[in-house]
Amino acid sequence: MSVRSLLTTGLLATAALASPAGYGNTVTLTATKEVTKYSTLTVTKAASCSADPVSTSHSTSTSHSTSHSTSTSATHSSSAISTGSVGSSSASSSPTTTTTSASNTNPSTTILATATATGFGLNDAAKAAGKLWFGTAADIPGTGEPEDFYYMQEFNNTHDFGEATPANIMKFMFVEPEQGVFNFTGPQEFLDVAHATDKYVRCHNLIWKSELPTWVTAPAVPWTNATLSAVIYEHVYNIVEHFGDQCYSWDVVNEAFADSPAGSYDNSSIFYDVIGPAYVVEAFQAATDAVRNNSLSVKLFYNDYNIEYLGNKSSAAQALVSDLKARDIQIDGVGLESHFIVGETPSQASQEANMRAFTALGVNVAVTELDVRLPLPPTAADETQQVADYYSTVAACVAVDGCIGVTVWDFDDTYSWIPSTFAGQGYGDLFLQPGGANTPLVKKAAYDGCLEALTGAAESSP
Ligand code: G3I
Repeated sequence: MSVRSLLTTGLLATAALASPAGYGNTVTLTATKEVTKYSTLTVTKAASCSADPVSTSHSTSTSHSTSHSTSTSATHSSSAISTGSVGSSSASSSPTTTTTSASNTNPSTTILATATATGFGLNDAAKAAGKLWFGTAADIPGTGEPEDFYYMQEFNNTHDFGEATPANIMKFMFVEPEQGVFNFTGPQEFLDVAHATDKYVRCHNLIWKSELPTWVTAPAVPWTNATLSAVIYEHVYNIVEHFGDQCYSWDVVNEAFADSPAGSYDNSSIFYDVIGPAYVVEAFQAATDAVRNNSLSVKLFYNDYNIEYLGNKSSAAQALVSDLKARDIQIDGVGLESHFIVGETPSQASQEANMRAFTALGVNVAVTELDVRLPLPPTAADETQQVADYYSTVAACVAVDGCIGVTVWDFDDTYSWIPSTFAGQGYGDLFLQPGGANTPLVKKAAYDGCLEALTGAAESSP
């Protein structure tokens, strides 16, 4: 076992436990509602990210300016963003610091972002391997993350992260809290923070059974096929149009298929309940219309879990891709979430074969939500296995041309979604904070496993 492995295992803080749930269960957010009205919302800074695996140009100089006249209400409280501009979150020598600034649409907030150079990292290695990025999800704004200096310092480290995915703030209940009333403030803050360090953003997500406002789940007048279809169309079209090419891609539909029977449609979604499978096609049609009518280059993805290996659920996602293409509806990629359990991660060969089944249909794939959870407290054996699991997943993406990048579902155990969803499990991310929130981060052995996979090095046990 390496020094790093001993260090990280020994320093693990016990994670909070909560009720167990199958992943993907509906969780209801209690959001504080703070209404702010803007008659005009103008996006002043945007990154235009138009790239395929074969064409990897990434320009942040393009100014995409859009006006949107509507009332907006904020349901996610905005908080100060820590600049993370001093010191280093991970082992490095003499870091150099570059500071950039971006204007938030909220006139009272100026976000300063700091990129700390810490030497060759995960994103550097991913790009050297021909990928667009190594990225991370982040729950910004409105949580402890943006207030955590050390967390933000690592988030802003472009050597490690060249892509960011909003873990929550772009979900339905935040962006359209009342019918026809759109709140773009929190999502724009996320985009500004990510773009300030030149990151791609995988915007997430438009239509999902979870995180819906009550006006959707408990309507005053029961939905009909026609009325709920109109809701989908307005939600998807307006949001794709509004953010335009600030998003590299959108997860248009999230997790439409069930685990049991595998590959059937998830019938616990209100959209499926009222509309049937056509709701997925309708959502992609609305996104396609927004892209085509506005000449956008934003990519459209389907995103799901348990489709990282061949089987009925993966086959269902492949059939969806073929169906959308046959209808001349845009589908550019499939997100393979990859929330794995230590020791149960599909083999590298299995993941490669699955990725190729998608790319053979003419779409890209991306590893979109990678983490590897294990029972707490972690054992040395589990940590060694975790490194192997991260390695096999990242190496599979490296080996498949149409896999555009790997995104971890947050990088710091302090803010992981795992312990509150799976009782007694955690330690799933690449870093931890031995001293707790707002203290220096420590790289885990899993980080080295990812770096080895990206650089083509053989995996070495911790
Ligand atoms: O922000 C509030 C906080 O103020 C409050 O004190 C706390 C009490 O529970 O809740 C906080 O909100 C939580 C929020 O995450 C921010 O951390 C919500 O309860 C919780 O339900 C919410 O969970 C998110 C979940 O999706 C549901 O939307 C997770 O963070 C997020 O990681 C998870 O992400 C999903 C992807 O979107 C789709 N794929 C699976 C993935 C993991 O479940």
